[in-house]
Amino acid sequence: MSNNKKNVLFIGAGRMAQALIEGLNKNKFAILVGNNGNEERLQEVRETYDVETTDNWHQHVSKMDIIILAMPPESHDPILVELAELIHGQLVITVAAGIDPSYLESKLPKGTPVAWIMPNTAAKLGKSMTLYALGQHVNQEQQVWIEALISGIGEFEQVTQQQIHELTAVTGSAPAFIYRVAEALEKITLESGVTTEQARKLVANMIAGSAEMLKTNADPAELADEVATPGGSTAAGLEVLDTNHLDHLMIDAIEACRQKAMVQD
Ligand SMILES: NC(=O)c1ccc[n+]([C@@H]2O[C@H](COP(=O)([O-])OP(=O)(O)OC[C@H]3O[C@@H](n4cnc5c(N)ncnc54)[C@H](OP(=O)(O)O)[C@@H]3O)[C@@H](O)[C@H]2O)c1
Repeated sequence: MSNNKKNVLFIGAGRMAQALIEGLNKNKFAILVGNNGNEERLQEVRETYDVETTDNWHQHVSKMDIIILAMPPESHDPILVELAELIHGQLVITVAAGIDPSYLESKLPKGTPVAWIMPNTAAKLGKSMTLYALGQHVNQEQQVWIEALISGIGEFEQVTQQQIHELTAVTGSAPAFIYRVAEALEKITLESGVTTEQARKLVANMIAGSAEMLKTNADPAELADEVATPGGSTAAGLEVLDTNHLDHLMIDAIEACRQKAMVQD
């Protein structure tokens, strides 16, 4: 291991850990992966990503610069108790829903730098829209490490922990809403006699193109106007959506996600 590389320990070797590992620059980070005892999974991670694994992460903590908790929220408490005994100022990051920096700080020794990153499932394609929030003791260099880590899985934005609580419904859950829209459009496309493959291609590329237009920072209302000539066919379709209050439906769906997350936290 070269000296200027940062040593990163992943505790958790599942989907999110693997997406992050795949995106990480191996020239900057030396990666070690531990988990809850599933040796088959560690072997797969070792072979797929050419990283080191351990069946006893505890004994490596003291040499680490960064510890990433990539496991379910409910596994955090016992691990944080163990970590609190082992760490001496290393950066601790979680990717778990509901485990915010204040919570990590309350469980770890005073002064521990902590961060919360919230990717979405597109991380596995390097297309996540990731939110992150910092605890009180993260220095500038550590923030650079965090951004290097999450830049490998897509775009990111720094926000407050309260904003992550509120906005996970948008960046994390709303992709499922878009998939529902895609499902409905696919069904109606199939009625024209094209194959499933063709229908999927038409709908996926239509959504991808629309997303690219949005990414130019254009106003969505103006983009809709651009498509819809007044009195034309698209305008007739938009009127159906507006009359049926698509905006209210979205607000209710986002609100339902938030309410559920609050009960679970
Ligand atoms: N998947 C996503 O798109 C996504 C998006 C945002 C946030 N997240 C968050 O990311 C975290 C991980 O999700 P995932 O999808 O990667 O889950 P996953 O594929 O089910 O993997 C979970 C990993 O956690 C390990 N683990 C569980 N309990 C542990 C313990 N006590 N000690 C050590 N390791 C433990 C498991 O070990 P074994 O290998 O031994 O089973 C496994 O490697 C969750 O908190 C989730 O909320 C996921």
